[in-house]
Amino acid sequence: MTTQDPFVIFMPAGRRGRVTPGQSLLDAARQVGVEIESICGGRLTCGKCKVVVEHGRFEKHAITSTADHLTPPDDEEVALLARMGVNGDGRLACAACVTGDVLVFVPEESRAHKQVIRKSATERVIAVNPAVRQVYVAVDEAELGEHRGDWGRLQAALAQQWQLTELTIDLLALRKLQERLRAGKWKVTVILWQEREVIDVLPGYHEGIYGLAVDIGSTTIAGHLCDLRTGAILATESTMNPQVAYGEDLMSRVSYAMTHKDGLEKMHTAVIDTLNKLAARAAKEAGLQSRDLHEMVVVGNTTMMHIFLSINPQELGGAPFALANREAMDVKARELGLRLHPAANVHILPAEAGHVGADNVAVLLAEEPYNQDEMMLIVDVGTNAEIVLGNRERLFSASSPTGPAFEGAQISYGMRAAPGAIERVSLDPETKVARFRVIGEERWSDEWSVGPEAALEAQATHLAAGICGSGIIEAVAELFVVGVLTPDGRFHPALADHPRMQWHGRKGAYILATADQTATGQPILVTQDDVRNIQLAKAALYAGCKLLMQRAGVERVDRILLAGAFGSYIDPQYAMILGLIPDCDLARVTAVGNAAGDGARIALLNREKRAEAQRLAKEVAYLETAVHPDFQDEFVAALHLPHARDPFPHLQGLLPETRAAAQVTRSRRRNR
Ligand code: FES
Repeated sequence: MTTQDPFVIFMPAGRRGRVTPGQSLLDAARQVGVEIESICGGRLTCGKCKVVVEHGRFEKHAITSTADHLTPPDDEEVALLARMGVNGDGRLACAACVTGDVLVFVPEESRAHKQVIRKSATERVIAVNPAVRQVYVAVDEAELGEHRGDWGRLQAALAQQWQLTELTIDLLALRKLQERLRAGKWKVTVILWQEREVIDVLPGYHEGIYGLAVDIGSTTIAGHLCDLRTGAILATESTMNPQVAYGEDLMSRVSYAMTHKDGLEKMHTAVIDTLNKLAARAAKEAGLQSRDLHEMVVVGNTTMMHIFLSINPQELGGAPFALANREAMDVKARELGLRLHPAANVHILPAEAGHVGADNVAVLLAEEPYNQDEMMLIVDVGTNAEIVLGNRERLFSASSPTGPAFEGAQISYGMRAAPGAIERVSLDPETKVARFRVIGEERWSDEWSVGPEAALEAQATHLAAGICGSGIIEAVAELFVVGVLTPDGRFHPALADHPRMQWHGRKGAYILATADQTATGQPILVTQDDVRNIQLAKAALYAGCKLLMQRAGVERVDRILLAGAFGSYIDPQYAMILGLIPDCDLARVTAVGNAAGDGARIALLNREKRAEAQRLAKEVAYLETAVHPDFQDEFVAALHLPHARDPFPHLQGLLPETRAAAQVTRSRRRNR
């Protein structure tokens, strides 16, 4: 290259270099490291390589850029640009050849590795680099005396036009190959998976590749349908996991598989049927069909993944909690009975250990603690809590059997988060009378109508039907804060005669909603056993966090992320008052929503992230908390509200004893 050769600059990347005169802009871009989209490989079919030529003198780069420094568009390019509605300075990079200095802008839609912003509490950019892509190719026609076979001819064309070698072809794609090549007059669009397998051949030019990222939770299954070329989410669907009918928590599903001859098959079929329906609904919403889904990425806890693959989860039911397979897997969707594209693959992220599954690896991908200096604690609570602690230097994980109490199960008046469930609770510190809010009703209970209108209200849906997970957490935390509960979780004996208390022997119960505030006409109570169940669950979680902190050699964490549905509905302040999570600056405790689902989407959109997941799954050090010698001690200490010995400086003024102290300080200040 000489200084006489044209100088080309691609914006906004700012990449530049001298190129051989006559080289296409598409090749020039590649040469300087800018990836421009192309499905047709320069056949003026796809229009994906559109760029804009800038005019004028660019002093900073010492060049003058003009459209005249490119070969003029021929009729074919003009026609395609017109069809695309492009006018002015738009050109197709595969057709425009460089004759002089030029500065070119590559619009977002023409960039090969697009980026999408992941909208969540911790906003991140996802680079789009999917495992599936389409290429348009012209294949040599079959001739007498030439014996490569149609697949051989297609392989040769792909090698020559796209430098794709050592490919295999899915049997179903092979079955259609001959008919499709001829229907397309030997010009076809090939759908490739992982640059190594041809999963479909379509006659002529086609575009559109789609995938589904799915998080199979024990209670809920959620899926995002994504455009794999742009990274856009086209539809989001969620549904209940039908396996709930076979057991609320993981262990009861494991035991259902063990105790019923057809237990595994029933649960497997139930989840596959549900996924088929979910995929069909999502596809419909996106204006597609299930068969347009070329890939699916699935995450879930280890039991869910075993059942999804129809592997008996029996070994997960007891020590040493052996997984059938910890590695990532790729399976044909059809082998699982999934009705997607006939040759679609399902990618399953790897697991970390017996009870820390692909969902946790997905959370890691989404939140990237391994790329930060801060010591980050991520808590994902379902019926089983999965905890990760770490930063760029080290990463630890653990699981704690919290049980379903946080979801409102095992609670006397517990219910799922559905209309009528008490979700917010506040107690008057003086009268110790509760006000609450139910799902589906904006107003707090003390704003409901009284008097003649009350009869009408009785028909309304806002009457309380039970308590959901966030409601019970707030109720217990508030009862503790106003002194109805003692730090060891008992109802305060001094309140024996309080009108909101009921006593059955020495066991107290608090009337959260009075009979006239409920749908059944019976009061809704928080019982001593409910408080105990919450204490047991939160102690298991806290002890897990604490053991991880000890293992990491840290006394405090810089940041806490609450993942999963639980994290979205729980108020961080109440979580800390209860001692569910360790002390931390409350402003640094955030809910990150369905981080596992986001991680699945990241793995769907970016195949390199799958390799990262595989590496992470092996790197993260798993701590077996349940058999840890200090577990019992930590668990017992964590039964107290918020904790028997650990300080909570960030709750200063919010806990009963510090509230009292803060009030004394305030009144002293007033008296000065
Ligand atoms: S690469 Fe398809 S039109 Fe340019």
